[in-house]
Amino acid sequence: MSFGLSRGREQDFAGFGLDREDLPPIAEGPWDPRSLFEHPDRPFELEIGSGKGTFLVQQSGLQPETNFLGIEWAGEFFRYAADRIRRHDLSNVRMLHDDASEVVSHRLPDACCRVLHLYFSDPWPKSRHHKRRVMQDTTMKAFHRIIPPGGELRLVTDHDDLWSWYEDHAARHADLFDREVFERPASAGEGEVVGTNFERKFRREGRPFHAMTLRRR
Ligand SMILES: C[S@@+](CC[C@H](N)C(=O)[O-])C[C@H]1O[C@@H](n2cnc3c(N)ncnc32)[C@H](O)[C@@H]1O
Repeated sequence: MSFGLSRGREQDFAGFGLDREDLPPIAEGPWDPRSLFEHPDRPFELEIGSGKGTFLVQQSGLQPETNFLGIEWAGEFFRYAADRIRRHDLSNVRMLHDDASEVVSHRLPDACCRVLHLYFSDPWPKSRHHKRRVMQDTTMKAFHRIIPPGGELRLVTDHDDLWSWYEDHAARHADLFDREVFERPASAGEGEVVGTNFERKFRREGRPFHAMTLRRR
């Protein structure tokens, strides 16, 4: 239990949040997150960098027969999101406290993830930090491995330079993914692209957004 972002309210995420230490050793081979759910055979979607978990809370109720995993490496946000998911009793959502790039590249089984959501990912604006961005040539190849044919990689950002980075990666890997128009999820509010916390914050600042869907070939 902990407090953190919850302003003194006790957080409890037992059964809804797991830590990287809870996962089996990498040497044991792929770890299948679908095994976390009561119905592991149902479609599975992944969100990288869930922040406070707003997208997962909003969208999972509209897709009760889809299992969702959010991966968040910042402890405070992970705990806040996992506690929030427990309070909403969302049995089709789990949070993992880990580095999503590692999980995607080294842990997840092939073709497990029908839709991968990456919304308002950290832009790391300085050139020397670009290697910290989630989107890399290596992760594009890992995304292609874990998303089955016809599945989607969904990208939204407010950041012009990160958007160019996405466009360059999409063009360089056009043999792996087809670029399509981004369709707003049903949970997005009036005038929203996807409706995450960061989108709402940036909208108040008047920033424009960029979005695309990459469909796995
Ligand atoms: C700018 S915030 C956006 C949060 C949320 N998607 C939203 O739109 O409100 C980006 C989040 O991604 C997380 N993050 C960045 N890189 C990550 C990684 N490699 N693995 C897991 N989480 C990551 C950060 O800790 C942060 O909470």
